Parts: sequence; C-alpha cells; structure tokens
Amino acid sequence: MRAIDVIAAKRDREEVAPDALREFVLGYARDEVADYQMAAFLMAGYLNGFSRAEAVALTDAMLASGERLDLARLSGPTVDKHSTGGVGDGTTLVVAPLAAELGMQVVKLSGRGLGHTGGTLDKLDAIPGMRTELSREELVAQVERIGLAVCAQTADLVPADKAMYALRDVTATVDDIALIASSVMSKKLAGGADAILLDVKVGSGAFMKEPARARELAELCVALGEDGGKATAALITDMSQPLAVAVGNATEVREAIEVLRGERSGRFADLCVALAGHMAALCGVAADPREGGERARRALAGGAALERFGRFVEAQGGDRRIVEDLTLLPQAPVVHHVRAGRDAVLASVDAEAIGRAAARVGAGRRRKEEAIDLAVGVDVDVRIGDAVGADTVVARVLAGDEDAARAAGQAVLDALTWSDGPVEPPPLVHAVIGL
Ligand code: URA
Repeated sequence: MRAIDVIAAKRDREEVAPDALREFVLGYARDEVADYQMAAFLMAGYLNGFSRAEAVALTDAMLASGERLDLARLSGPTVDKHSTGGVGDGTTLVVAPLAAELGMQVVKLSGRGLGHTGGTLDKLDAIPGMRTELSREELVAQVERIGLAVCAQTADLVPADKAMYALRDVTATVDDIALIASSVMSKKLAGGADAILLDVKVGSGAFMKEPARARELAELCVALGEDGGKATAALITDMSQPLAVAVGNATEVREAIEVLRGERSGRFADLCVALAGHMAALCGVAADPREGGERARRALAGGAALERFGRFVEAQGGDRRIVEDLTLLPQAPVVHHVRAGRDAVLASVDAEAIGRAAARVGAGRRRKEEAIDLAVGVDVDVRIGDAVGADTVVARVLAGDEDAARAAGQAVLDALTWSDGPVEPPPLVHAVIGL
C-alpha cells in the first residue's frame, strides 16, 4: 500500500479496501504516514463521504493501533456510557454512581473539554485532591470495590484516534459521521466494557445540528458496537439548549451534587435517570428502561447515589466533604446577574454560543494546551418555553473580573431568541436506537 494511492482513491470517490485503510491508519500511528497525508485523506473523505465498510475498517484499525483494557477480572456486568459532547452536560457525575447503585460496574474513560464542549476530567479536577490518572490495576481494583471509576484514557489505548482527532481539530474535519463514529467506538471498544450506552446529542450545542444526521450517527455507532461484540444502544437527546443550568467546571459539579442530594429536579436530572435506566436494561439488571429509571429515581431520593458518589470521590483521592459542603469547591470572585430586559417567552438558544461564552470567561480552552479556571462559568436559569419579565435574572456569569463577566453576560443575552407567544419546549429524548 502506498499512502498516495489511498489518498487518490478517496479523492476520486472510490471505496478504499479494508486492508489498505488499516495499513494507512496503522502507518500513521507508527509515524510512517505524514500528517499532511492524513490531513489530505481526512479532507477528501470529509468532502466525498465514507462508506459503512470504511467506517468499520477505520474503527478496527484505530482499535488495533493500541491496547485494550482487560476487564475479565471484574464480576460485572460492566458498562460504559459516552456523550458525543454538549454544553452543561455533566451527566457522568450523576449517572456513574447511579448505575453503580443499580448493580452495574461502571468503567468510564473520559476526556477533557475542547472548544465549546466541556469534558468530565476538567469537571473532576474542580474537586480538591481528585485524581483522574489511574493505572489499569487501580482502575480495575476500584471498580470491583465500589462499582465505578472515572479516569483518563491511557496513552496506549487507541493512539491512532488521539493523533487523528488532534489533526481533525485543526483541519475542519471533526463533524463527519463516519469519523466521529469510528473515533468514539474505537475508544469504547478498547475500554473493554460488556455494554455501551451512547448519548448522541442533537441541536445547536451539538456536533450534529439536525435530527436526521444525529440518527445516522447513532445508528452507525450502535452497528459498530454490535460488530465489536458489545451490547450497544443509543439515546438521541436534546442539545438545543444547555442541558443543566450550570456550564463550567466547579459549577457543574455543584449542580450534579445537588441532583444527587435529591434537591434539584428538571431536564438534567431527568436525563440522568433516563440514561441510568437504559443502562440497566442494556445490562440486564432491570427488565426494561422504565423499571431501571424508577429504581434510579429511588436511588436519588433515598441518598444511596450520593453516598456512592462520596465513596468514588474518596477512592480517587478527592475531598469527600464536598458532598455536604459545596463551599469547598473553587468559588469565582465575581457573580454578574444577566437580566432579560423584556417581557417575553424564550424561543430558542444558541447553545454553542453559551458554551463559547463560558470558555471565553475561562471555563474552557480554545487550544489543548491552555489552562482553565475551574471556578468560572455561566449558569443559565431559563429554558425554552419559559416566560420572563424584564427584571428576571436569566443567567449568572461566574468570572474572575467584572469586564470578563459583562462581556460574557452580553454574549449569553445575544444567544437567546424571544417570542411574544407561547413556545413548546423541545423533547428531552428524541429517539432510542437498539433497545
Ligand atoms: N468525540 C470523540 O471522541 N470523537 C469525535 O470524533 C467526536 C467527539
């Protein structure tokens, strides 16, 4: 195989044979194929599309580029969940202890935020003392002991995806269905869990803005998971507005703990329950998602999930007292209130712009190497369909200084569109694939 022939085939809209694709990707992981060749291939594929067979071959090749986690020592059932990325999407913090409480073993390899989307590892960093770099032995022992671990993917799992994702990020080739599906599913298959639940986001804050494309992505991910011998399902869920009120790091941890304490209801809590319920059905520890969801609600209301979260924090070196005392989380020096300035009903939200506003105030990064401020972010208090008055506080910007707070506040207001008449809230779960 010559790299140039693979690139030329993609340029000319030919299907690349699985063996050639595998050699090309493995060659890239070994530094035998250059960045500029992979970049040309990615752009040709982005423009001309990849076939289902090519998506399978890309997934297999990325998986073959590294090690796989061996979870055979765990009593199981083991489960992983993955969100395709959104704004105010801290579901892992609630769903992982909930799923553990329902009798599953959660092996969750997470990432850092980039651009307008947040990352679970950054959120966990907001908990004083918390470690997210675990060795394989630590990971497996912790999951057997307390039912869950959430940690960084080690460098030896799917190195080809790591390199290709970094290249896609700077060559405008991220939001292709086959590239996203093969990237996500190679990591999930390498993670070794028996069951995989995907949360495919759709809407203004998601990679997939259109429901039809989100469905295509969900169906491809489920097919790749099942090809890989895993029980796989996907929920297509709303990202036409931030999922939780909080968008940031410490602020998302605070809200997740409030949900675990049973103090907060709403769309974020509802989605956490739905995800845990579907995981339970997928793993066979509940008869169906509904029964799983009911048990999840009881685990929240009775304090069992909060207790499990506390054990998880302690196991990874974090300060367990945050469960009772939220002031131990980093606090922003400035809290700036943003008022609606009109009597109206919230019609739509540019969720990506809200994510960017939070990133600009310091909660996210534009480039991988940038540091983030764990204390800052944006809390958006209104949801599509809510009626407000001119004085209603629609958001609170948590910032390091007044100027940054005011600029982010204006960006949040600019991201909101208003109506004079009633507006129907969007559904939380659009569809379920594979269950
Ligand atoms: N998340 C991933 O892991 N990979 C992608 O390509 C997009 C989102």
